[in-house]
Amino acid sequence: MRIVSGMRPTGRLHLGHYLGVLKNWIALQNDHDCHFFVADWHALSTSYEEKLNLKILGRELVKDWIAAGIDPEKATLFVQSAVKEHAELYVLLNMITPLGWLERNPTYKDQLEQMRHKEIHTAGFLTYPVLQTADIVLYGAEAVPIGEDQKPHLEIAREIVRRFHHLFGCEVFTEPKEMLTETARLPGLDGRKMSKSYNNAIFLTDTPEEVWAKLKVAKTDTQRVRRNDPGNPDVCLVFDYHKALSEDTVVERVNAECRAGTIGCFECKKLCAQSIDRLLEPMRERRERLDDATIDAIVEAGNERAKKEAAATMEKVNAAVFEISCDV
Ligand code: TRP
Ligand code: SF4
Repeated sequence: MRIVSGMRPTGRLHLGHYLGVLKNWIALQNDHDCHFFVADWHALSTSYEEKLNLKILGRELVKDWIAAGIDPEKATLFVQSAVKEHAELYVLLNMITPLGWLERNPTYKDQLEQMRHKEIHTAGFLTYPVLQTADIVLYGAEAVPIGEDQKPHLEIAREIVRRFHHLFGCEVFTEPKEMLTETARLPGLDGRKMSKSYNNAIFLTDTPEEVWAKLKVAKTDTQRVRRNDPGNPDVCLVFDYHKALSEDTVVERVNAECRAGTIGCFECKKLCAQSIDRLLEPMRERRERLDDATIDAIVEAGNERAKKEAAATMEKVNAAVFEISCDV
C-alpha cells in the first residue's frame, strides 16, 4: 500500500513524537511503500514570523527519523519545498476549494484559539489542508497515518479529490484513507501535553544524565509523603512512562510495590530512566554515525524520486484541467 505522511520541522523530536508518530512509521516501512517528508512549507504557516532556519531544521528532522529507525532503503524521504509540484497542485486545488470547508474545519478553529499569541489569520494557514491534500494525492497515497487532530484535514482532502474528479471529469487521484494511530498519549514531565515550548519534554537526543535530571524532579503521587506510604500509580505520571516504555514485568512490579509502599519513588524513577535509556541508546549510537553530508545525500536521492512521481501526476492533472482530457 502507498503511504504518505509528513512532519513539520519545528525543532528536536521528543518521546511524545516518537510514541505518537515515529514508532508507527517505523513499523509501517516494513510492509508498505512509504513516503515520509519534511513539511517545511507547512511549518511556515504557523512560524513565518520566527525566522526559522528550515534548511537546518529539516536536516535535523531527517536525522532524528533515521536515528530512531527509519530506513532510507525502505522508505522514500524527501523535503516538500524541493518538489515544486506541491505548490503547483496547491494553486489548482485552491481554485476549487470552497472557503466554507476551510473555515468550518475544527482543527483550524482549535489552533486559532490555541495560538492566539501568534498572528496566523493568513491565507496560508487557512489553506493548510489544501496544501496537505496536494502532498497526499501527488503520490497516490492510499493511506495516511495521522493523529486524531488531523482527521478533519483528511476529510477535506477526500472532499477535494471528489470535487476535482466531478469538475474535470477525470479520476486522476486516489481517495486517501485515514490510518489512525492509537497511542497512549505520553504527558510531559509536568503533566501537561509534552511540548518543547512547555519545557517538559524528553528529547530523543537527551543524554542519560539529561534524562535523569528531568525525571528526578518530576512530580509523583503527591499524597505520598514518606517512602513507606502506599502510593497510587494511577495518579502518577512516572507510571504513565512505565506503561509506555517499560517491560511488562517492571510495570507489574512498580504497580504492586507502589501500592504496597515497598518501592520508593527514587528507585521507581531509576527503573523508569533505565527503560527510557534502553530506547534512546540505539538512537544515540546511530546518530553518532550520521553526518550532515550523509543526510543531505539521502534527502537528495529521495527528492529526485519524489519529483519524478509528482511530475507524472501533474501531467495527468494538467491535462485534465487545461485540456479537459483524461488520456495521458
Ligand atoms: N499536518 C500534519 C501535522 O501537523 C503534517 C502534514 C503535512 C502531513 N502534510 C501532510 C501529514 C500530509 C500527513 C500527510 O502533523
Ligand atoms: Fe509514582 Fe513510582 Fe512513586 Fe509510585 S513509586 S508514586 S509510580 S514514582
